[in-house]
Amino acid sequence: MSFQNILVSINEGIQTITVNRPDKLNALNYLTIQEIGKAVAEGNHHPEVFGMILTGSGEKAFVAGADISEFAAFGAIEGEKLSREGGEVFNSIEQSAKPVIAAVNGFALGGGCELAMACQMRIAAENAKFGQPEVNLGLIPGYAGTQRLVQLIGKGKALELLMTADMIGAEEAHRLGLVNHVVPQAELIAKTTEILKKIGTKAPLAIASVIRCVNAHYQFDANGFDAEIREFGGLFGSQDFKEGTQAFLEKRKAVFTGK
Ligand code: COA
Repeated sequence: MSFQNILVSINEGIQTITVNRPDKLNALNYLTIQEIGKAVAEGNHHPEVFGMILTGSGEKAFVAGADISEFAAFGAIEGEKLSREGGEVFNSIEQSAKPVIAAVNGFALGGGCELAMACQMRIAAENAKFGQPEVNLGLIPGYAGTQRLVQLIGKGKALELLMTADMIGAEEAHRLGLVNHVVPQAELIAKTTEILKKIGTKAPLAIASVIRCVNAHYQFDANGFDAEIREFGGLFGSQDFKEGTQAFLEKRKAVFTGK
């Protein structure tokens, strides 16, 4: 299948999916998310593929978030739909029978951090930066970031990152358990490949079972996921959301009123 916003290649059983919108720091618009979902499904069906790498093109960004320019004019109903449909793709990555490892080569913000968290593991380049800055836009994460961040780093630190919108570097992300390893950027793909190849020597059905069982621990359909979708949609009806997104697009500081 040919794609517009992602690059897909297969080498020695590893399918690499590269988000390829470098001029927008690989921001995720609707099409890009759908294409990632299709590529992961294809990788799962491909008889020669045993694992996947998800990364971003260029050296600056993994994914700098959902594409703010695409949803800036959305209302509550469209916001909820965006979250629900995107969430299905992120869930499909989390539930992939073949491991998907995020090779985080730069900014992983908002939807980018959420995308990395949906993968089974994360390897970060030394320059990677993580954060959930949605509150700057009058929003919250919409692709299960409020749930997976808690799962990975615990409630207290997750609340801090979600409420302050602070960005953290690769070393702190490693210390918190958000990423599995930190390596120099030039070694990122080699390290990710090495881990996948090790997993590739194990029994594929057992690997798929491990993924299912670990996901089961978190009761995937727990209410938090649904609550996030509803809250995310609801915020699209607020004036602060309009102000936050307009301020970003106009490159100025947002002035929030609580309405
Ligand atoms: N959505 C849409 N466009 C985005 C984007 C996003 N999430 N992130 C970056 N871009 C675009 C910028 O608008 C800019 O486009 P332009 O050249 O047409 O003006 C381009 O990507 C480069 O980004 P820029 O902001 O100039 O780079 P920078 O190095 O100064 O800053 C960031 C990098 C990541 C700190 C900054 O781009 C940023 O804060 N992005 C938004 C992060 C965010 O809030 N994500 C959550 C969204 S829910």
